[in-house]
Amino acid sequence: ESYDMGGHDTYMHKEIHEQADAVDRALRGRIDDRFSTVHLGGLNLDAREARAVRRVKILGCGTSYHAGQIGAQMIEELARIPADAEPASEFRYRNPVVDPDTLYIAVSQSGETYDVLAAVQELKRKGARVLGLVNVVGSAIARETDGGIYVHAGPEVCVVSTKCFTNMVVSFGLLALHLGRTRDLSVADGKRILAGLRKLPAQIEEILANEAQIEELAKEYADAKSMMFIGRVRGYPVAREASLKLKEVSYIHAEAYPASELKHGPLALIEPAMPTVAIVPDDELLEKNRAALEEIKARSGRILAVAHSVQEKADHTIVVPKNEHELDAILMGIPLQLFAYYTAKAMGRDIDKPRNLAKSVTVE
Ligand code: AGP
Repeated sequence: ESYDMGGHDTYMHKEIHEQADAVDRALRGRIDDRFSTVHLGGLNLDAREARAVRRVKILGCGTSYHAGQIGAQMIEELARIPADAEPASEFRYRNPVVDPDTLYIAVSQSGETYDVLAAVQELKRKGARVLGLVNVVGSAIARETDGGIYVHAGPEVCVVSTKCFTNMVVSFGLLALHLGRTRDLSVADGKRILAGLRKLPAQIEEILANEAQIEELAKEYADAKSMMFIGRVRGYPVAREASLKLKEVSYIHAEAYPASELKHGPLALIEPAMPTVAIVPDDELLEKNRAALEEIKARSGRILAVAHSVQEKADHTIVVPKNEHELDAILMGIPLQLFAYYTAKAMGRDIDKPRNLAKSVTVE
């Protein structure tokens, strides 16, 4: 391949480090300070149509599905439209009720994933309005949808998606702000979210500057046979994506659970050989998350927290800069991309081409 590696040993490392620039690209030319909103040229949805949306359903696979889960939460929070995400691979097979007042969004890096494309075609056949949130310009899903948002992450070569996930989540933030401002999101809140979005590239650089600490932690936890990832509400899809990243690239078994579900079963797994990675944002659930850490500590579980401040109950904390609470999920997964990378490196894995996986799954 002809891309310049710029001193990076793998595409995964290179692409993780491209994220501040990638996010900057996703924002460029889209911010509209005059109306405290964003301008999304290709959306093909006027204000009247945006206001008529009663539900949002997001469809994607793997990492893109996880980005969609965060996106759904952002849309509910900022636009107050009921929203959820579902794996496109399942959606098609359960004979879903297709509702004309629902806005469907297909999310895909490659724009060629068969399961997503087939879901789009099924929706279109039933008369639904489908937008795309896609990275590759002119790809099949971009062409098949009625409009959408290009996430502008740039080419992603590593099979394991990193910068594209971040740009997808940022793009969902833009869409949520846009939908919110056609409804009840105030000018003041619009301004606050715009300021938060603008801060992201510098905050990403801040996280990446902490790479040496993350490398050390990855070496320390690389002996684990299995790891638990937990989070609540905004932190839960972050935990799911981080656990997928670790599995894909290191082959360490990992499970992701809402922290609130631990006591309903998975707590039985906790012991010193099963470390937990906990996503602990400084939000309205902080005390509840701390209580979960105590439960784990009481069972002698090792804990690595990703948090906005050092967590006493954790053995280690990676501190991440705080943004607006609606946008925090964008940043909290980034150190765990590096964690997965360094764990895989310590284990001598084929980082850019993990076994059994392909960059783009164009078959069923
Ligand atoms: C990401 O790390 C994965 N390799 C995989 O889950 C991927 O996100 C999924 O196959 C969907 O691909 P797409 O975004 O190109 O549609």
